[in-house]
Amino acid sequence: MKSDILNIIFSFSFFSILGWMLEIFYRSLRDRRFVNPGLLKGPYLPLYGAVALMLAGTVPLLQGSPVMTKSLVYFVVTTGFELGSGLIAQYFFHARLWDYSDQRFNYKGRICLKFSIYWILLAFAFEYLIMPPYQGFLNQVSPVIKGSFAAAAFSLMLVDFLTVSINSFLGTTPEEKVIMDTEFMNTARPLLENPVVATLSQYNHHRNKTRLEHVKEVAYVSFLWGKRLSLDSEAIIRGALLHDLFFYDWLREGPRWHGFRHHTTALKNARKITRLSKKEEDIIKKHMWPLTVVPPRYMESLIVSLVDTFCSTRDYLIVEKREKSPKAVAARLGQELSGKRV
Ligand SMILES: [Fe+2]
Ligand SMILES: [Fe+2]
Repeated sequence: MKSDILNIIFSFSFFSILGWMLEIFYRSLRDRRFVNPGLLKGPYLPLYGAVALMLAGTVPLLQGSPVMTKSLVYFVVTTGFELGSGLIAQYFFHARLWDYSDQRFNYKGRICLKFSIYWILLAFAFEYLIMPPYQGFLNQVSPVIKGSFAAAAFSLMLVDFLTVSINSFLGTTPEEKVIMDTEFMNTARPLLENPVVATLSQYNHHRNKTRLEHVKEVAYVSFLWGKRLSLDSEAIIRGALLHDLFFYDWLREGPRWHGFRHHTTALKNARKITRLSKKEEDIIKKHMWPLTVVPPRYMESLIVSLVDTFCSTRDYLIVEKREKSPKAVAARLGQELSGKRV
């Protein structure tokens, strides 16, 4: 059973990559330029992996069946998957990955007779030309190599898929973005104009990022999640902007066990400059959870804590080449406060 699961994941990854190569070849020839097909960024097309697995399970059941029966089954499997994935891409990711509208006998531009015939021919090629040598190849590859390849490729696909899903979930149309940015700035402006908060621009927080930039980023991304999940946007923005309100370079100075203590300092400082709601207090107090053991009391606090962790981790993984002079930071802040940019 273990070996079966390993073979399934390995084959899924293998044919996803093979399918990507096939599409690259076809589309690049057709368009006379390099085209990376599909929704995901990496070199794989899970549609091919899924169809290959489905066919691998179907072929043995059709042994001895007439060609017409096989053609019909291959049509249902391949065209069914094509229609399903086209609809998923359209409705969940707002992406139109291919369009057969200009082809005869098409259905909503998602499937068409010509490509269904191509798919059937490809399925026969899979049965007679690809599957027999692939079975031999599969038996020869050692479980360690299979496991390593399957784990690497599958994890990459999963991360890629999650990234695309999150971006799609948080994505906005240009009109929506203007409305969201305005709402964000209307709530954030009083705090960003506060001279105490503004001094955060003088402290480096993470690699190439000031503390002010960090809290604004956390506030904005958390705000987007909050909007999508219908949470309290005002509490999220204000709590996130104040979550790291402390005034020392935590890498060189400040109290011991900074990671376990700075939320208390930030909360004290925040109380001095504004009146905080219970939710805002909880956001600041729990933003280092699970380091600070007691879990967030509100969904808003959990979102800010997760976004803070994500942004901080990303800051250390990605080194951005940006101008960091205090003058440039001040100019950026000025622009934002004057409403030119959020
Ligand atoms: Fe923090
Ligand atoms: Fe933070």
